Amino acid sequence: SHQTACRHLLSLRDLTLDEARALIARAIELKRMQTAGQAFRPLVGKTLAMIFEKSSTRTRVSFEVGMAQLGGHALFLSPRDTQLGRGEPIEDSARVISRMVDAVMIRTFEQQTVERFAAHSRVPVINGLTDRYHPCQVLADLQTFYEHRGEIQGKRVAWVGDGNNMCQTFMEAALLFEFELCVACPEGFEPDAELIAACGDRCRILRDPREAVQGAHLIATDVWASMGQEEDLDRRRAAFAPYQVTDALMDLADPSAIFMHCLPAHRGEEVTDSIIDGPRSVVWDEAENRLHLQKALLEFLIPH
Ligand code: CP
Ligand code: NVA
Repeated sequence: SHQTACRHLLSLRDLTLDEARALIARAIELKRMQTAGQAFRPLVGKTLAMIFEKSSTRTRVSFEVGMAQLGGHALFLSPRDTQLGRGEPIEDSARVISRMVDAVMIRTFEQQTVERFAAHSRVPVINGLTDRYHPCQVLADLQTFYEHRGEIQGKRVAWVGDGNNMCQTFMEAALLFEFELCVACPEGFEPDAELIAACGDRCRILRDPREAVQGAHLIATDVWASMGQEEDLDRRRAAFAPYQVTDALMDLADPSAIFMHCLPAHRGEEVTDSIIDGPRSVVWDEAENRLHLQKALLEFLIPH
């Protein structure tokens, strides 16, 4: 069966640098318009289906509110009360859902699931987080960096902690936006080996967080146990104890360094209250920018 060619956002590799920069610029403009109370409703009559196989606060609220502000509608689907949870094949679900809606956002475990869905979808598919990537979050983070510090090209970014989906998306961002990334993680918690190889000189993997933050303009971290890894928390707490982002650690970075965390945070584990609530933290701007960046993304992906 033939499908209309359409764009997806399954990882940052789906965007050119020009497109990614245009999305950030557009998000900043849509933020200005929303703040000014200026209505902009290009997606009247359009529907976004949102499939959540994991919990969410920010992603659900931002996509749902974003569609409403653009004049469209968003539909929340959970495996608990759809046939997805009873084993209907992902390919069949893609064929059915994509005949009724204008775009689909999926939060799930395997990256392959979003790829299989996209391969059988007539409409754009957006990765709302998998075990491998979280592209919507990192685009919002890059918008946030731009607003606070300007161009990220040539800057130094330190990732402190788990080599997880957020870390791996920062690695793809380092390739696309041409910044230097240092990842500090304990042995056994490195990002994907093929991705490390693909990044070449753009990304260094270190053990010592103090070395990683040297000269960094951005320090980012995330929880020590991601969704689906909760039963491994004791082992992780022990391994990650030296990787807490503290004032002492951030004092080793560039004086202009800002702190990011995609949230939700486990205060007292990967970050102290003093850092997350302190003057170098931009975490609430990151969360707000999920709304604006995703509105730009929906406007870009959904034909109207
Ligand atoms: N940062 C993020 O994606 O948050 P949620 O899990 O609340 O969507
Ligand atoms: N790494 C975290 C990010 C949550 C937004 C997780 O996957 O649970």
